[in-house]
Amino acid sequence: MCGIVGYVGERPVVDVLLPGLSHLEYRGYDSAGIALNMGSSMDVMKRAGRIAELESLVESEGPFDAISGIGHTRWATHGAPNTVNAHPHVDPSGDVVVVHNGIVENWVELKRKLEEEGHRFVSDTDTEVVAHMIGELADLPLVEAVRQVMNQADGALALAVMRRSEPELIVGARRGSPLVVGRGDNENFLASDIPAFLEHTREMVIIDDERIVEVRPSSVRIIDLEGNEIEPEHRKVEWDFEAAEKGGFPTFMLKEIHEQPHAVLDTLAGRITETGRVVLNELEMDDKLLRAVDKVFVLACGTSYHAAMMAKYAIERWTRLPVEIDIASEFRYRDPVVDARTLVIGISQSGETIDTLEAVRYAKAQGANVIGVSNVVDSALARESDAVLYTRAGLEIGVAATKTFTTQLVVMQLLGLYLAQVRGTLDPGAVELLVRDLMKLPDQIADVLSQSDSIAELTGEWGSVDDYFFLGRSGDFPVAMEGALKLKEIAYVRAEGYAAGEMKHGPIALIEDGVVVIGVATDSHVRAKTLSNMEEMKARGGTIVLVAEEGDDVGEVAEHVIRVPSGPDLLCTVTAVVPLQLLSYHVATARGLDDDKPRNLAKTVTVE
Ligand code: M6R
Repeated sequence: MCGIVGYVGERPVVDVLLPGLSHLEYRGYDSAGIALNMGSSMDVMKRAGRIAELESLVESEGPFDAISGIGHTRWATHGAPNTVNAHPHVDPSGDVVVVHNGIVENWVELKRKLEEEGHRFVSDTDTEVVAHMIGELADLPLVEAVRQVMNQADGALALAVMRRSEPELIVGARRGSPLVVGRGDNENFLASDIPAFLEHTREMVIIDDERIVEVRPSSVRIIDLEGNEIEPEHRKVEWDFEAAEKGGFPTFMLKEIHEQPHAVLDTLAGRITETGRVVLNELEMDDKLLRAVDKVFVLACGTSYHAAMMAKYAIERWTRLPVEIDIASEFRYRDPVVDARTLVIGISQSGETIDTLEAVRYAKAQGANVIGVSNVVDSALARESDAVLYTRAGLEIGVAATKTFTTQLVVMQLLGLYLAQVRGTLDPGAVELLVRDLMKLPDQIADVLSQSDSIAELTGEWGSVDDYFFLGRSGDFPVAMEGALKLKEIAYVRAEGYAAGEMKHGPIALIEDGVVVIGVATDSHVRAKTLSNMEEMKARGGTIVLVAEEGDDVGEVAEHVIRVPSGPDLLCTVTAVVPLQLLSYHVATARGLDDDKPRNLAKTVTVE
């Protein structure tokens, strides 16, 4: 959560910081600020609201002749999202400025100590405490002051710090929250995420946890928390700048929905043989170990949890292994039964979600073997897992997950089939048939995308509808859940995802004239039952829309049927969710809402 950008070099600093912040706005967008180091003074400008507010302020106050600068876009954790609590925060002398991602867990204790020494604070943030602590160490080189403070602060945090007297230097520190350096020619960038500097360079250095980095125009020096020198590891960013641009689409979300055929194709690439087998060479986990597994847990949050729901059906059906799924924030607080024969799969697009990371850490500590499924190469989840499978969706900027969800479904289907191969629970012919159908998914998604206009027309009739239900059974249930989450988060309407068969046990009381009920009915062995459940909704006044496979006779129950290409149960989840993504997009757009930056949300949730 929150985005950090820093720059030291020859360009006008503001021209790097503001666009950099705009590229990070998806990480948090309730307030933003920058600090510019002029050598003689430190200028701090901040504003509640979007980056555009900050841009107007900077324009009205400029121009600036700064040597270096840091900036921040915030998703509030401590203190209301107002201008005072916006970052950067300064120490009492005004010489030290700090921007921060994450939470200093012992900040109350640290603040109390400083207050006893006479410090007065202007904001309600934990970050201001860090600025004061670094300011107290004015006799030490900045890097040493930051190192000492990192050793006193608990919690997950990434920092970027400047001191007026050292204008050619930005110091960064990382524990938990990501931090990367972009390498340029006599210039360097420090950021929480690559898009902040992608238009300037694709050369980067990833900063590991528990490291401090000194960034100067022509050098990058890394130390650990004991002060030992660490050799920087240089990498090249695989995406190009296009990935961080909208490419002609009005929003990132719509662009990312349309990127799904390609994202799924990339995710399948190299993982399927011509003879119809699944090969997961990157899964460095011994077959013997996979054969010894007697139980699987799949842990995730939000949309990724819906991929976990589908994974349960797939792995149980294809391997006959018992699979438990859990919302990651619940898992470790319920004393789950995990041991060395348990396989734990953590799914997280960002690989940074703290709930998922903590759940996976807990499982590892109990002896489980962990597979991480992440879209971000080298993410914390990827590094902390025993093995990793990447979704290859490319950079996802829209806060609402779309292409990362469909690629998670595909990765979990590949993993389910792979486990079935290793454990001999599906015969090769059955695997081959499913693999051939997996390969059809990219084209099938493209087919569904071509219905965007008709879905817009349909949602155009729902201008005043505030109540939606998304219903499905079996493999269609996670799709329904995901459809409801998409609509809630970007259109701000009440949308319930429910197991269709469970409605009659209570929630059916909510169905009346004007409620839109979207049924997903692609799973062949429960289709008839789902259709009966939809009749029950219709009888109570619900407006019925169905997502059904081409060619299926769905009777007269629905006012509107959205057709998706037919395919095997479970694989159809990938195509069936696409119309629901489009539907949410069109409802939100018709309401004039910004689907890329829904209120109160951030792309990555690094707090519990
Ligand atoms: O990065 P992760 O996959 O771990 O994120 C999990 C959730 O925070 C995320 O899926 C969230 O629900 C999105 N807003 C969904 O659109």
